[in-house]
Amino acid sequence: MEKRLQLFPKSTKICAVSGVERLAIGGRDLTELAEEYGTPLYIYDQSALDAAVDEYRASLAAHYPGGGGITYAGKALMNLAAARWAAGRGLWVDCTGAGELYIAARAGVPRSQILVHGVNKSDADLQAALTTAGTIVVDNLWELARLAALADGVADFPNLWLRVRPGLAVETHAFRQTGQDDSKFGMGFAEMVEAVTLCQKQGLPLTGVHFHQGSHFHDPEPIGPALERVLDLLAELRDASGWRPAYLSPGGGWGVPYHEGDLPHPAIDDYVAFLAKKLAAGCEANDLPLPILHVEPGRSIVAVAGVAIYRVGAVKRTRNRRWLLLDGGMADNIRPSLYGAKYSALPVANPLRPVLDPAWLGGPYCESGDVLIENLPMADVQPGELLAIPVSGAYHLMMSSNYNGALRPAVVWLQGGQARLVQRRETVEDLVDRDL
Ligand SMILES: Cc1ncc(COP(=O)(O)O)c(C=O)c1O
Repeated sequence: MEKRLQLFPKSTKICAVSGVERLAIGGRDLTELAEEYGTPLYIYDQSALDAAVDEYRASLAAHYPGGGGITYAGKALMNLAAARWAAGRGLWVDCTGAGELYIAARAGVPRSQILVHGVNKSDADLQAALTTAGTIVVDNLWELARLAALADGVADFPNLWLRVRPGLAVETHAFRQTGQDDSKFGMGFAEMVEAVTLCQKQGLPLTGVHFHQGSHFHDPEPIGPALERVLDLLAELRDASGWRPAYLSPGGGWGVPYHEGDLPHPAIDDYVAFLAKKLAAGCEANDLPLPILHVEPGRSIVAVAGVAIYRVGAVKRTRNRRWLLLDGGMADNIRPSLYGAKYSALPVANPLRPVLDPAWLGGPYCESGDVLIENLPMADVQPGELLAIPVSGAYHLMMSSNYNGALRPAVVWLQGGQARLVQRRETVEDLVDRDL
């Protein structure tokens, strides 16, 4: 159980309240927060977000002489609070499409710090990008032709980066691989040559190259050959057209430990140091000037900062299982059912008490696959108790749904010992708000 505690934000403490040991994060008692805001509840500890950014910054400064930057991948968690926090920390914010662009703009993220992604950007996405973004990452030649048509007479046209598909996979779940040959994302090398030619012909502000190999990998090595291929391509492009990117982004994707079996986990610094050294050496070998290295992490910034708190409704014994049935599940965290993601959990009260036997943590929804955690050694938890699932900050709320009329959870932001409600819980009225 001590090891499980390491999965929570560093600010997590166990505090005695009336003879009961209770989990507290960011100086706030989780039991009190659950009582005040209800469950399921998502809390975000800003000190954990800040610590991850500090680590990325320190690593880039220590290992890369060409200058570095961070784009926060908003797809991991995007709301006004997250976007304001990112802008305040001087991060760029990666938005996918008009919806996320709207949130970033409403949050006041400066245009120069907004970058747009999207594998099939709609006209509305492109229009929103033209007015709110400083950089558009172009996914394909068709999109580039549409942008070229829109550029006529526009004075402050966003910078363009080209997304290349290096044709190699990193080790992660197949659903999270993006850089392999048959991926739907980005352009092949021949298309890249065409894209650079078109940008030069049309006088488009082409400033960068981007690739993203996949999400939630734990070993940076497989990025090496992809980076080498991209640098070979850049040398070819330089020879053919004279173009050299001011920015190179190897995307995001650095993984995090979700359960005790993932510990110890390599550090952000191991990942950045690998990238930085490989890029500097590759540029030297290809006689290319060092581009600004813009990393694009989502999960490794925001996952650990988030903790989900559920209340156990019923406890059931079936032939081989002990079921703890929670008040949330696949509607707020689809990851276990989508790709078998493995999590861990602790009781909020007396979290370090002895284990009884394995438990299955099931959600309330009408799907047998609605199980958040399987076969987890767990204390003797009773109906009415609270459970906290650590590492819940990324790709939960953003993929959440109203399945079975589920109401999206409330979100509370912890900073300096204060708790602030940043997203209210949905109400049943919200469920019919769009209906005519
Ligand atoms: C283009 C791009 N950049 C960055 C990310 C962020 O990945 P992660 O949250 O794993 O760091 C993703 C996630 O899929 C992505 O598609």
